[in-house]
Amino acid sequence: MKKTLLITAISILFFTTSTWAASNCPQPRKTKSAPSNIASMDKTAKANAENGKKIYAKKAKPLACKMCHGKKGDGMGKLGKALKPNPRNFTCSDTMKDVSAGQMFWIIKNGSPGTGMVAHKKSMKDKEIWDVVKYIRQSWVK
Ligand code: HEC
Repeated sequence: MKKTLLITAISILFFTTSTWAASNCPQPRKTKSAPSNIASMDKTAKANAENGKKIYAKKAKPLACKMCHGKKGDGMGKLGKALKPNPRNFTCSDTMKDVSAGQMFWIIKNGSPGTGMVAHKKSMKDKEIWDVVKYIRQSWVK
């Protein structure tokens, strides 16, 4: 009897985690759009992805991007899992196909009000934002 209960509990757990993973891509996305002149902007060509990596993994303030967006860019960082809406899953091409470099720049700079995504305009220079955009796109966005 106890064993059956345990097996049921494990199956439920497995089922819920696997459906959660599936619902993480495509991700429902209601993020505000950047003004069109910024959405079409792309300054990643001259940006420094190595510096972007440091910002993503450690240097960003108040929190490293990794804490929410995850080490692998899948939106499954330690804090990210608990947030509603979830942090963007950069590895999900179904969602990311609508997110340009300029759109990313805009949201990193200004934040997405009402979500965990805070503005970084006081803590990061534009150049640094382009660095992290380049790192993310190079690493995960297909
Ligand atoms: C406290 C958690 C948290 C941290 C730290 C964080 N983000 Fe986010 N991020 C989010 C959430 C939540 C969203 C989803 C916002 C939405 O749906 O409107 C998001 C969305 C985004 C988007 C998607 C924009 C779009 O238009 O879809 C980008 C790009 C992004 N974050 C980059 C970053 C970068 C780069 C950093 C570090 C400098 C960072 N984030 C730090 C939680 C976080």
